[in-house]
Amino acid sequence: MAPVPYVVPLVDSTAVFKPEIFKGKVLFCTGGGSGICRGMTEAVMRHGADAVIIGRKLDRLTQAAKELSDTTGRTCIPAQGDVRDPKTLRDAVTKTIEKFGRIDFVICGAAGNFLAPIAGLSENAFRTVLEIDTIGTYNTIKATIAHVRASKGSYIHVSATLHYNGTPFQAHVSAAKAGVDALSAVLAVEEGPHGVRSNVIAPGPIDGTEGMERLSVKGVADKQFAYPSGRAGHVKDIANATIFLFSDAASYITGQVLPVDGGSEHMRGTMVPYPQSVLDPASVAHMIKPRL
Ligand SMILES: NC(=O)c1ccc[n+]([C@@H]2O[C@H](COP(=O)([O-])OP(=O)(O)OC[C@H]3O[C@@H](n4cnc5c(N)ncnc54)[C@H](OP(=O)(O)O)[C@@H]3O)[C@@H](O)[C@H]2O)c1
Repeated sequence: MAPVPYVVPLVDSTAVFKPEIFKGKVLFCTGGGSGICRGMTEAVMRHGADAVIIGRKLDRLTQAAKELSDTTGRTCIPAQGDVRDPKTLRDAVTKTIEKFGRIDFVICGAAGNFLAPIAGLSENAFRTVLEIDTIGTYNTIKATIAHVRASKGSYIHVSATLHYNGTPFQAHVSAAKAGVDALSAVLAVEEGPHGVRSNVIAPGPIDGTEGMERLSVKGVADKQFAYPSGRAGHVKDIANATIFLFSDAASYITGQVLPVDGGSEHMRGTMVPYPQSVLDPASVAHMIKPRL
């Protein structure tokens, strides 16, 4: 019988961290109305925080805020805004302070993506992705920093791993996310002495998300990448990393990029079949003999 790879289990953060560690805290999350950032918001709320979620589509945002409040027992409110427009972010911050009086955690997660080759990508499309991901992250930092300083709080920026290599058809997002990583490092250095931390979570491909739907080739999504952890990522995997990075257990961690991808960033361009080659090296002996 062929050896079977180990598949890491999905764990709920409340099984590891105390449920009340974020009691009295307030989260400000761009992109929190859907997908990964909604899952991050839910997890932070499950540990006691209230939240404000920001996005352009008010209907979806309002529905998400209601569901998040209902499932966690905390309060989530929607704030319509476009991260490209600093005024709408300032308004969302005002709404947050009027409702909750503080901001402890910020997730910069709003982003856009699609597949397009450099030669086919319009200048406008390239610029738009940088405006949402990179300038939107800057605008969010600018709008929130005074309050995060006051609470000695913490930022998490949602980036990606695709810019660690030259990923085809992702020039726009690669450039944008590299900028996000750089902004986070500078934020950590400049604001560390004021008591603020800043880190990046870099998700690998996350099953069931809009982003993955848009980027994956139908029918082969689960075969496109190799995962040392045995499976594609789940929103909960990103949520769990979020709880850790916002918690006091991570108080000495700032300016870092944490890929949460089951190890897949190390698996780009494998020359041998995976995972058969690591489960049974003899099966590929004819290919890598001198190294066995
Ligand atoms: N899915 C993956 O496998 C994957 C992998 C690596 C990294 N990521 C990153 O994870 C994050 C979430 O991705 P996702 O797949 O969960 O996608 P998603 O559900 O499409 O989330 C994107 C969110 O950003 C909001 N948004 C987009 N443009 C905005 C703007 N101009 N102003 C305000 N909000 C805006 C959207 O809401 P509105 O449309 O209502 O504005 C939406 O809620 C992104 O940063 C993405 O780059 C995802």
